[in-house]
Order: sequence, then C-alpha cells, then structure tokens
Amino acid sequence: MKDLPKSEVYEQEFEYMPWGILIEKVLAIIQKEATENGRVLDLMCGPGYLLGEIAKRRDDLTLEGIDICGEFINFAQNKYPNISFQEADVLSWKPTNKYDVILCTGGIHHLPYDKQELFLEKLPATLNPNGFVVFADPYVDDYSNESERKQAAAKLGYEYMLATIKNGAPDDVTKATIDILYNDVMGFEYKTSLKKLEPVFRKLFPQLEIEKTWPESDSEFGDYYIIGKGEKKLS
Ligand SMILES: C[S@@+](CC[C@H](N)C(=O)[O-])C[C@H]1O[C@@H](n2cnc3c(N)ncnc32)[C@H](O)[C@@H]1O
Repeated sequence: MKDLPKSEVYEQEFEYMPWGILIEKVLAIIQKEATENGRVLDLMCGPGYLLGEIAKRRDDLTLEGIDICGEFINFAQNKYPNISFQEADVLSWKPTNKYDVILCTGGIHHLPYDKQELFLEKLPATLNPNGFVVFADPYVDDYSNESERKQAAAKLGYEYMLATIKNGAPDDVTKATIDILYNDVMGFEYKTSLKKLEPVFRKLFPQLEIEKTWPESDSEFGDYYIIGKGEKKLS
C-alpha cells in the first residue's frame, strides 16, 4: 500500500471520480434493502464516508467499520462518533459477530492477489441467514501475463484520470488518480479482472448480481458492484 490520499482528499473523490457513481449506487441498495434494525459492517472502510452517508439515510441500522489505517480510523471516529470504528487488518481479523450487510468498497484490490480469495472465504459464514454482501471495485481488462496486466492497469488508470479531470476535479483529486495509476501499474495495488475473480464469488455465494456503473461504453474494465447472498459450503 503506497501513497493513499489524505482523509480530506478522499472525501472529495466521491464528487469528481467515477467512483462516486458506484458509491451512490451502493448507498441506494443499502437504503432500500438492509433489514430493519440490522447490523452493517464496512470492511476496509477508509475515513468512513460510506457509513456516514448510510447513517443519514437509515438511522435504524447499527454500523461498524474496520480499516488498517489508524489515521483514517481516527478521522472517521471523530467525524462520526455514533458509528463504531476499529483499526484492524482484515486478513488477520476474526469475525465475532454476524451481520445483515457486509460492505467492501474499493477494498479487495488492496489485498495481494494470493490473499483475495482467503479474505473472501471468511465472509459467507459472517452473514446472518438473509444477509448479503456488497463488493464495489474497479476491475481491469483480463490479462494473461505481467505486461498485459500493466497495460490493462494503465488503460483503466488513464480513463479514470480523464473522466475525473472532465468532471472539473481540483488538483489534489487529479493527483490521486495519478497515484492510483502509478500504484496499479507498478503493482503496489492489486486490481484484477472480473473474469479472474467472478468464479471465486460464484463459489462462495449461490446468488450473485453483477452490475457495471462506469464507463457507459461497452468496456470490460470499469467500476462494478457485486451483491452476494446465501452461504455455500466450501468443498
Ligand atoms: C481505496 S480505499 C477504500 C476506502 C473506502 N472503503 C471507500 O470506499 O472509499 C482502501 C482502504 O483499504 C484499507 N486497507 C488496505 N489493506 C487493508 C487491510 N489488510 N486490512 C484493513 N484495511 C485495509 C486502506 O487503509 C484504505 O482505507
């Protein structure tokens, strides 16, 4: 993990990056679908924006967030004192509760490729019977070697930056898109293709809904949300 933006810049990203469209979609899903008085966990919650917005729309829900970054957790806890935040590594985290909704937005691509499935495998058993997970992430075009992976990351990163500049982003936010491109191409973050990760989601969740929110064109790369329901036994 390298060059994460400051909490204040993070908060602006939702306004200018295509990411904001995806997060709005996730918010609409939670507002409509979360069980009344349910318990919601946001894994890799960053500075807490998503949970803060959920609290405004659904004050019946109990909200918890986990992130490895102490600065983000302090920022979130100060800004949203009614939400419970915990500094922890999701890879060593051992769930002690069950949840009606588990969220992980922009998180999976921060875990090394060989840890992504291990992380996802913890989640089905952490859901209440009618619970669901929402993953939201950018995916690159599929690739079959390291050069193709870098090209796919460069393509996503360039289009992301372009869209963000076109939205009138201030320089801090534009710089964040340059850092994203750099981290992805150089392999400090681990964006994968949906083609590679979809079989893992299918193995773990009997019911799966997959939607792309950006770009509007018929691209393979882009921002997607994935809703998973139901527990499947691991063979
Ligand atoms: C791109 S941010 C996403 C933040 C937020 N979920 C959002 O939608 O804006 C990725 C977050 O994952 C956190 N993170 C990275 N590795 C982690 C780990 N092993 N355990 C917990 N959090 C981690 C980072 O600190 C960062 O806040």
